[in-house]
Amino acid sequence: MAIIGGTGVYDPELLSDIEQILLNTKYGCVAVTIGSYEGKKVAFISRHGKGHTTPPHKINYRANIEAIYKLQAKKIYATAAVGSLRKELKPGDLVILDQFIDFTKKRKYTFFDGEEGVAHVDLTDPYCLELRDKIISQCNKLKIPYHATGTYICTEGPRFETPAEIALFANWGADVVGMTNVPEVILAREKELCYATIATVTNYGAGISETLLTHKEVSEVMSNNNKLLRDLLKAIIGN
Ligand code: HPA
Repeated sequence: MAIIGGTGVYDPELLSDIEQILLNTKYGCVAVTIGSYEGKKVAFISRHGKGHTTPPHKINYRANIEAIYKLQAKKIYATAAVGSLRKELKPGDLVILDQFIDFTKKRKYTFFDGEEGVAHVDLTDPYCLELRDKIISQCNKLKIPYHATGTYICTEGPRFETPAEIALFANWGADVVGMTNVPEVILAREKELCYATIATVTNYGAGISETLLTHKEVSEVMSNNNKLLRDLLKAIIGN
């Protein structure tokens, strides 16, 4: 399986027998850490790179998913920091995403540009049901509270949203907002890989939050939740 670590999840601290490789794909080169946990092989990719050096709109999503595909991993667990559009989704809460809305503008969001043929993938269930069940059952086992569903709206970033946008997104039925799940989730489906995201609420969206938004706030909540996420990922891999 593979893990794509989002903001605050930069190191595969849970893995042993670690090997760092640079994997060449036709879309670009990807730094992958390969290791194992309880005898299971795991590939880890840091979405933003170590030290958060790649902004959301510059991530090479196609290369990352192609690298995982080439490594023959079949399941991808991703983590993501998100802003909340609803009072009941509080900073620190986990949301197991089940739907998304695409509000990005200029990303390479398909492998099927014509050269590799034309395909229209079904996204009735964009997030893999089997992996979502697995996350939920391990949360139950570890007594980690979670929200079992959530609609993610993906913005282009790297700026945060305006309060008007946040109000619109909430009206559209979105629950959380982030900058990276699209096109990651789509590309995984195009490669027929099972993909699920454990989202961590780091802040209320602009206009709901009583303070101005900062990346520092996002990073701090992620770092407070780091052990919890690591324990959850360990339980998921090990079971
Ligand atoms: N907006 C967009 N992306 C985010 C946010 C937010 O409020 N918080 C964490 N990632």
